[in-house]
Amino acid sequence: MPGICGFYLNVPGLIMTDSSIRPLSPADQGWLVAFLTERWGSTRMVARGVLYEVTDHPGFVAVDPADADARIGLITYHIAGDQCEITLLDSVRENRGIGSALVAAVEEVARAAGCTRLWLITTNDNLRALGFYQKRGFAMAALYRHALAESRKLKPEIPLIGMHNIPLRDEIEFEKRLD
Ligand SMILES: CC(C)(COP(=O)(O)OP(=O)(O)OC[C@H]1O[C@@H](n2cnc3c(N)ncnc32)[C@H](O)[C@@H]1OP(=O)(O)O)[C@@H](O)C(=O)NCCC(=O)NCCS
Repeated sequence: MPGICGFYLNVPGLIMTDSSIRPLSPADQGWLVAFLTERWGSTRMVARGVLYEVTDHPGFVAVDPADADARIGLITYHIAGDQCEITLLDSVRENRGIGSALVAAVEEVARAAGCTRLWLITTNDNLRALGFYQKRGFAMAALYRHALAESRKLKPEIPLIGMHNIPLRDEIEFEKRLD
């Protein structure tokens, strides 16, 4: 995919009580494919009508400090021009600060790369994400009604019913201005 930012940045000071954050590396590829397939049904994602392979994107992984093999969170991103998109965020051990630390790591990369906007797409059923991002400085930038119908043409494995038994229908764009 053109425009992918291929560099990684070490983020000092992000060692936390119950996880450490490190950049994804080629050694993570096998785990990454298994993790995405198990938790998301595929390594392929669709956002704003664009199908992409998450495995092509740089990112960070959260690791249990007591067990370097235990990966407990993942974030990936894609930088195009001065825009940085979070293309996947998944925390395996919720409510321990892992999701927040992963977002902070990507924000730091985006700022270092001169990005003026950090953005992402989530879906109407993801009530937890709607709260999570707003509490972390993101605001709703757009609502794309019935976008999932188009996404299913590219990725038929997207279910009709999402979290909390809510029909999976719309895309919501969140943004955080970095300038
Ligand atoms: C949304 C998601 C990424 C949040 O990840 P998380 O690791 O639970 O996030 P955090 O732990 O940083 O924050 C969650 C809450 O835990 C709280 N928390 C953080 N550390 C804590 C601790 N040590 N003890 C208790 N609570 C804690 C935070 O204050 C936060 O609460 P708040 O939102 O009311 O402020 C996670 O729920 C997830 O992966 N969901 C499934 C995939 C998904 O929906 N991804 C987003 C798609 S766009």
